[in-house]
Amino acid sequence: MDLAIKHVTYSDISDNWPLKDQVLEQINDINQQLVNDPTLEAPEIFLDNQGMRRIRYRNKLSEQAFRFRPALEEWRCQLVPTALALWAVQHPLAVRLISGGEMDLNSRPWFIHANDARGIRSRAKVMAAIADLHLNDNTYVNWISLACGAAVPVLKTLHSAKLKSQKFTLLLIDNDRQSLMFSRGLATQYGLVEGHHFQLLMRNLFDRLIVSDKLVQELGEQSAELVDGLGIFEYFTQPQAVHFIRHALRLVKPGGVLIISNMLKTSPQIDFALRCIGWTMIYPRTLFELREIILAAGINLQNVTVTLPSDGVYAVMEINVTE
Ligand SMILES: C[S@@+](CC[C@H](N)C(=O)[O-])C[C@H]1O[C@@H](n2cnc3c(N)ncnc32)[C@H](O)[C@@H]1O
Repeated sequence: MDLAIKHVTYSDISDNWPLKDQVLEQINDINQQLVNDPTLEAPEIFLDNQGMRRIRYRNKLSEQAFRFRPALEEWRCQLVPTALALWAVQHPLAVRLISGGEMDLNSRPWFIHANDARGIRSRAKVMAAIADLHLNDNTYVNWISLACGAAVPVLKTLHSAKLKSQKFTLLLIDNDRQSLMFSRGLATQYGLVEGHHFQLLMRNLFDRLIVSDKLVQELGEQSAELVDGLGIFEYFTQPQAVHFIRHALRLVKPGGVLIISNMLKTSPQIDFALRCIGWTMIYPRTLFELREIILAAGINLQNVTVTLPSDGVYAVMEINVTE
């Protein structure tokens, strides 16, 4: 028995938005030049003498990419790598970034058409499809969102599931206070009441779900039907990822599911994402490497389905806990 693989294609704002071919061509070109020269380094952020976060370019391609895209530059300086940066990708038609700057005409098409932006949106759709099945099947659902960030994917899922007559509780966990505060505002806008529909918990998953199982002790074994960890798995080394899965699975009730994602090494514009934009250090993986982690965590491959959206950016793993 090997990993079950599911290929999916979702419609996306990028499908019909102007400039698609031009932007893809521009970004593919930058990506290819970076592939050709592995010595070109990602930009870095430094604090200027007024304490402002500024960008220092370390290659020409990066400098040119940001030069006439002020929103992209503000986004990179002020928001990356927090979940508040993802918000712009999840809401590319918004007038402003969360940091306040206005979206400009040159930046917006990149937030729409960059393949990685599409991948962030599609991984959320995969999670929504999996979660929806569980929301339909159960009369009451506890959902724990690990590294929830701004909680956009979770809240959109619950919203499109019509909040299922409010028969759920949602626990939003992150170590970033600002993102948690933002998720509180968003959840409230969705009509959810803190303490009744959702709770926030500021915890470091590294300390409490990798190095130790303190989070499992705090929340209780088998306390949720749905546990997700979108966009966090690739921050962990292989041994850390194994511990993370082992511990996170203990939070899941029999019949429930753990949903996690990892960027693929084959993601088509990965050099652009890592060395032109300069997203923080992550561990993109192959399906084989993910399979090794799953096996090392003692999981029967029969209980795992990997969904691969057609943009090729992420693998979304669904690990079912049998009854
Ligand atoms: C890429 S975002 C993903 C957010 C959300 N799950 C999504 O897909 O939209 C990663 C999140 O992980 C959080 N994070 C990173 N390291 C963490 C840690 N050690 N403990 C808890 N959260 C962490 C960050 O604060 C950030 O909100």
